[in-house]
Amino acid sequence: MTMNAEKATAPSAGEHRGPCPALNTLANEGYLPRSGLVTGDQLVKAINERLGLATSIARILADAAVKDFGKPGENGEIIVNLADLVKHGVIEHDASLTRPDSRDGDAGPVCPPLLDQLLGLSRDSKTLTLEDLATAHQLRIAQSSAGGRSVSIKAKALGLFEAAILYEVLRRDGEIAIPEAREFLGKEQLPAAFVRKEIGWGVLLTTAAKLVAMGNSPFSAAKRRADELAAKPAPAGCPYPHGSGGKPS
Ligand code: HEM
Repeated sequence: MTMNAEKATAPSAGEHRGPCPALNTLANEGYLPRSGLVTGDQLVKAINERLGLATSIARILADAAVKDFGKPGENGEIIVNLADLVKHGVIEHDASLTRPDSRDGDAGPVCPPLLDQLLGLSRDSKTLTLEDLATAHQLRIAQSSAGGRSVSIKAKALGLFEAAILYEVLRRDGEIAIPEAREFLGKEQLPAAFVRKEIGWGVLLTTAAKLVAMGNSPFSAAKRRADELAAKPAPAGCPYPHGSGGKPS
């Protein structure tokens, strides 16, 4: 399997995709096998070469996926099926930015109304700032907690890490352009203007810490805004029923 950039194409029948927009994108582009059946080494190489994450970060993520989901493939190599990542409570969690909670429907495919909600948090309708992402994360936690349900600390921490990684991978000049966020999260392909940056632990942890501060301080604008928005009804059209492949009922 050559891991060269090809034109991104949506998966064909029999090709597996899961709840991670980044891994789906890498498979759609051919940086990972389009089949969606991937080895740990392929994950590390594709994440580092295409998205710029340090090999040490990619290795931790890949090892976790292999440990939890690896199965012997046709030639005995240990393979992860991207679709298996949807199993709830391992990595997949509640309060995702663009996926419904698994108890409500299929948490694999992007849920367009949730994507619209996320992009609608842009204050200038052009870009998402880190503060917008902090708002989005808190809003989803509040929406998932409605009716006395609870969101686990693990789910909150994973969601925070994903928001930080999303910001670092897609940001240019400190913000994510809305069309680029829509292309990545909605179409699962990297925007033409995408620029690979070297992303190490330092920058990622600093961004995660900023998200914690912005999202949890009672006086922060992100927290206030999330609380206000959470009082309104959650987006219509989600959840999708199980097995619908992401199609509204
Ligand atoms: C081996 C590496 C990786 C694995 C196993 C993995 C796995 C997952 C899983 C299972 C989810 C679903 C969580 C949920 O929303 O319930 C997820 C979401 C996500 N992943 Fe990955 N991921 C990996 C690498 C990456 C990378 C490199 C990025 C960089 C952009 C990324 C970005 C995201 C984002 C932004 C979400 C959140 C989607 C949402 O909340 O709607 N992931 N990932």
